[in-house]
Amino acid sequence: MAQVFGRCKRPHQGDNMTAQPHTAPLALIGGGNMASAIALGLLRHGMPAQQLWVVEPDAQAQARLQGLGLRVLAAPDASLAQAAVALWAVKPQVLPQAAAQAAPHLRGALHISVAAGVTTASLRQWLGSTEVVRAMPNTPALIGQGISGVYACPEVTPAQRAQVEHILKPTGQMVWLESEDLLDAVTAVSGSGPAYAFYLMEAMVEAGVGLGLPAAVARQLATATVAGAGALAMGSNEPPEVLRARVTSKGGTTHAAISSMEADGVGAALRRAVAAAHARAQALGQAS
Ligand SMILES: NC(=O)c1ccc[n+]([C@@H]2O[C@H](COP(=O)([O-])OP(=O)(O)OC[C@H]3O[C@@H](n4cnc5c(N)ncnc54)[C@H](OP(=O)(O)O)[C@@H]3O)[C@@H](O)[C@H]2O)c1
Repeated sequence: MAQVFGRCKRPHQGDNMTAQPHTAPLALIGGGNMASAIALGLLRHGMPAQQLWVVEPDAQAQARLQGLGLRVLAAPDASLAQAAVALWAVKPQVLPQAAAQAAPHLRGALHISVAAGVTTASLRQWLGSTEVVRAMPNTPALIGQGISGVYACPEVTPAQRAQVEHILKPTGQMVWLESEDLLDAVTAVSGSGPAYAFYLMEAMVEAGVGLGLPAAVARQLATATVAGAGALAMGSNEPPEVLRARVTSKGGTTHAAISSMEADGVGAALRRAVAAAHARAQALGQAS
């Protein structure tokens, strides 16, 4: 794992596309939640801390990152030219300014952006590079159980794709997308998705409390149930509707609950909610 950030050469036809062993640093631009999740994942997977550099203006965040052993830069400087890969993890509205400051020092690097809604067209322009990848992770990345949808510009080589996989793997699963437009759908389903699961948990906790359970017990029951159902679904080849049918015997308690949800249009409301997130992701992308 430690040697994945070699500067990429253009691959030859037939190259097996494994990244060149090298110890060039990974430059994280922005050291907030998402960058920290990725850095912690890489550290857990054996990447030496000194190979992780982070540009972060906030003093408190700097101290936290230094505590992890990372090399922290308060502002971009010429040393960044050593980085093979730059991972852009600042807020979307800050990205043009951060790019103007750091990109001149990162010529030749592979660029990976996790900024929601910022298109590769904008990134290519701001970064002055065609070797640009967009990823949409989600918050379970913090515990290595996230999932990212990832789109690479056509100029990104298979060896560079392998580098992207090495960087994102510690955050959980990833899926490559053939079309950038699909990142808006990924944002709507899995990017915002953890909040939908929390929303479901909230309602289950409230209902449990309403039925007389102590709040802590209701919370434990709801959380473990959503987590357990997720783990069960992940470990099964069956689609969710089959798993649901298996625990829904006619006339039973689960059947009563699902019938009530269907009568209330819960499924349709959830589909509208995902569509609303999708529309918002598209609008943010057009504004970038
Ligand atoms: N968190 C998620 O679940 C999630 C999921 C998918 C995608 N993303 C994307 O990940 C990106 C980062 O999100 P986040 O939640 O990690 O945000 P965050 O915690 O606010 O982290 C961003 C960090 O970048 C710093 N920063 C500001 N200007 C900078 C500059 N010019 N150069 C370098 N660093 C700069 C910020 O410092 P200050 O606080 O001083 O401004 C902050 O510490 C966003 O674009 C977001 O869309 C996040």
